[in-house]
Amino acid sequence: MKNLAKLFVLLGLGVLLITGLWGCARNGDTSAKLSDSPTPTPAANANAAANTNTTAANTNTGGDKTIPKDFTLGKDSLDPDYHEVAFNHDNHAFQKYSADGQSVMACTECHHTDQPKSALKPPDVTSERDVALTLDVFKSSSQKVSECRSCHFQDGNVPEGKTMPTSGGKDMNNQNAFHINCNTCHDNAAKLRPELKSKPGFATSKDCAKCHKSGSA
Ligand code: HEC
Ligand code: HEC
Ligand code: HEC
Ligand code: HEC
Repeated sequence: MKNLAKLFVLLGLGVLLITGLWGCARNGDTSAKLSDSPTPTPAANANAAANTNTTAANTNTGGDKTIPKDFTLGKDSLDPDYHEVAFNHDNHAFQKYSADGQSVMACTECHHTDQPKSALKPPDVTSERDVALTLDVFKSSSQKVSECRSCHFQDGNVPEGKTMPTSGGKDMNNQNAFHINCNTCHDNAAKLRPELKSKPGFATSKDCAKCHKSGSA
């Protein structure tokens, strides 16, 4: 009787040990989440080499948790007339930059894949993160925030083995993805607050040259 009890204890410990090891191995495999997605989801930062967006070195790899204050987008534009676009990340992420000027935007309004699947608004289906991105989540998590360009490629510049994302049957290349994101909000803001149109740097969808520097100039 005593021996039988001992045997059960040993068996129990064995099972605990094995499930524990299995759990560790699974947690270590961070790519699992990505490949679970049903839609084409390029690996995070696959296009990193092509991305020349950051003005500061990318410090966002674990320990050092700072976000560059501003970015110069479109440095690698293939169209000579539509080059650099200034983007002040601090303003957009931390000031009241909603279209009506009344609230601070959620990070996920732009970083749309950085939220759980259950929080996505149709037609979006692609999720890379189990909790919605906030500044606190960013600071406490070791998971990187993927750059838009790691998924939204330039036409003709889709890396081997990756697919261009689509939405509503339309290719979401860098031009479409950024234009929809930036311009939808700016056009709404200009409608709600016409005085914004005279603000230096602020552009509606039609003010191409206010947003883009000309590469040939
Ligand atoms: C709110 C700012 C904004 C406005 C207004 C705007 N764009 Fe853009 N545009 C962008 C951003 C941001 C990108 C993507 C840059 C990147 O990929 O890093 C882009 C990308 C592009 C590209 C693709 C460049 C490439 O080869 O990668 C073209 C072409 C372009 N825009 C043309 C236009 C035209 C034409 C207009 C006016 C009808 C316009 N843009 C208005 C911000 C703007
Ligand atoms: C991990 C890959 C990935 C990243 C990172 C990513 N996107 Fe997307 N994006 C997609 C996919 C895939 C779709 C198509 C809808 C879906 O599958 O959820 C999409 C759709 C969109 C759309 C179309 C409208 C909509 O919501 O469906 C816009 C606009 C957009 N993305 C902008 C951005 C911007 C701006 C960023 C960076 C701040 C970004 N995306 C980062 C993969 C990504
Ligand atoms: C108005 C849209 C917008 C909002 C809101 C926003 N971001 Fe961003 N974020 C961007 C864009 C655009 C970039 C730079 C280009 C890219 O990622 O491809 C960026 C870049 C970043 C990067 C650097 C990524 C890298 O590897 O270089 C981090 C980290 C980040 N954002 C975190 C956040 C957090 C945290 C919040 C909320 C507190 C937030 N963002 C709110 C649009 C936004
Ligand atoms: C959800 C709303 C929203 C989105 C998305 C958004 N913006 Fe803005 N942006 C604003 C508002 C509102 C202002 C004007 C704020 C003010 O002056 O009170 C503004 C102002 C600007 C300005 C003027 C300088 C500044 O920082 O005030 C630039 C340049 C700009 N945005 C670029 C961009 C680009 C590029 C993108 C896309 C990557 C983008 N914005 C996405 C709301 C948005």
